[in-house]
Amino acid sequence: MPLEKDEPWYKHAIIYQAHVRTFYDSNGDGIGDFPGLDEKLDYLVDLGINTIWLMPFFPSPLRDDGYDIADYYSVHSSYGTLEDFKKFLVSAHERRIRVIIEMVLNHTSDQHPWFQESRSSQENPRRDWYVWSSTDARYHEARIIFLDTEMSNWAWDPVSKSYYWHRFFSHQPDLNYDNPAVREEIWNVMKFWLEMGVDGFRLDAVPYLVEREGTNCENLPETHAILKELRRKLDEQFPGKMLLAEANQWPADLRPYFADGDEFHMAFHFPLMPRMFMGVKLEDRKPITEILQQTPEIPPSCQWCLFLRNHDELTLEMLTDIERDYMNDSYAQDKAMRLNLGIRRRLATLLDNDRRRIELMNGMLMSLPGTPSIYYGDEIGMGDNINLGDRNGVRTPMQWSGGWNGGFSAADPEKLYAPLIQDPVYGFPAVNVLSQKRTQHSLLNWMGRLIAVRKTTHAFGSGSIEFLYPGNQRILAYVRQLGDEKILVVNNLSNAAQAVELDLRRYKGNILIEMFGKNIFPRVGELPYLLTLGPYQFYWFRLRRI
Ligand code: BGC
Repeated sequence: MPLEKDEPWYKHAIIYQAHVRTFYDSNGDGIGDFPGLDEKLDYLVDLGINTIWLMPFFPSPLRDDGYDIADYYSVHSSYGTLEDFKKFLVSAHERRIRVIIEMVLNHTSDQHPWFQESRSSQENPRRDWYVWSSTDARYHEARIIFLDTEMSNWAWDPVSKSYYWHRFFSHQPDLNYDNPAVREEIWNVMKFWLEMGVDGFRLDAVPYLVEREGTNCENLPETHAILKELRRKLDEQFPGKMLLAEANQWPADLRPYFADGDEFHMAFHFPLMPRMFMGVKLEDRKPITEILQQTPEIPPSCQWCLFLRNHDELTLEMLTDIERDYMNDSYAQDKAMRLNLGIRRRLATLLDNDRRRIELMNGMLMSLPGTPSIYYGDEIGMGDNINLGDRNGVRTPMQWSGGWNGGFSAADPEKLYAPLIQDPVYGFPAVNVLSQKRTQHSLLNWMGRLIAVRKTTHAFGSGSIEFLYPGNQRILAYVRQLGDEKILVVNNLSNAAQAVELDLRRYKGNILIEMFGKNIFPRVGELPYLLTLGPYQFYWFRLRRI
């Protein structure tokens, strides 16, 4: 479907989150690389996605899987060369796939030469590039994010005999954004990749750029001013490129990241995600309708980015204590599944490999207001490995086939950067792309159909939403509308068949066309519209006056 004039591309993006390391190893060293990702682009074309978000691929000691950057201007040697990246970018663009890369701007690795210089002496010209202090008592109102590993946001540097500030791991010192030279340099980094042709950035950990005494050091006006300045430069020099915010915050704190349409184009909707899992577990629409009602309007050029899973733990930060306990009791009975304030599992394992629930959740992902992001491997129902540390259990090699190393790599299995999933239910012999390509009703082929149907209308990407509140609380129903186009979505959040009466009087005279099979359902009249749905079933209907 051609994009309408003035419609920004990111409103109709279907994002696929990939990690070059985990995707496909072209040279048999046990680690995925850019030539490998390039080879697999047609797989992504077939799936129907049109945007890739790549996790960090820069030189790094990989103590946080690349979120600890040691050089912003190059590619990690295990993943290939800058030339390989450029080739991949050209191949993606040839297939009309846009590429969003990660920009970790809050912190660097402690191995970055900037930090090495900064710590070398108090007089070093780069001393002020990081946040130093003679005491660890400053900014004590700032919370600790990596609760399971860090005791403080300050770490002692034995070289320069002072403390440095870090919001994440202690090997990730925070850059000092009060220093104009830092701001300038980060823009130079962004320019470097934009000139190469990338289409946008996920800006990592944006709430934490600036610190101020007496605050929790999150979402400060000074931080917003810096982000706006980056956006201004982007618009001036690279119109059409996109900024996506990773700001794990409540809706009211998230809203300012869109400002007046002059800060971020997109932001992840962190509070919605766990509530979709809650709604399905509770068999009640309330958690979902409530959070969306509390979500403020955003400027017309802006867009939410929706997701079910990503490379991190399923974060429970944007929940109340009671809600968090419920999520942990429901989805992470085994304590090994918990990490920091979250759950380190994949979509299929969270949903007990229940195909109906996996479909329902993806149906909501694709029909609620926003742009969907799919985490690699979830389209085939890959599992996870909680025996691997940190978040590595959800970052195992992509399962391409039932053959050697699941088709991921020709290396000896011992050489792989991480073991493949091997258990009888989720292991690569049972769950892989090749076998799912062969069966018409596989999850992979179903995901392809879902994406194709989503793409038949712009109402999902840019339409309004209006909830219907039928008496049956187990049903989540809404109408998405863009101009004359109206889509009715009805989701059964429960494990049992349900009947529902919808008040569709304002659509009287319309017929309902079920969007997957294109079959016609009865015309809407005066009476409540009766539908029945099987367990976890959902419908997408086009409303048409014929
Ligand atoms: C990323 C994490 C990373 C952290 C520190 C995040 O929010 O998503 O994977 O560990 O930033 O860079």
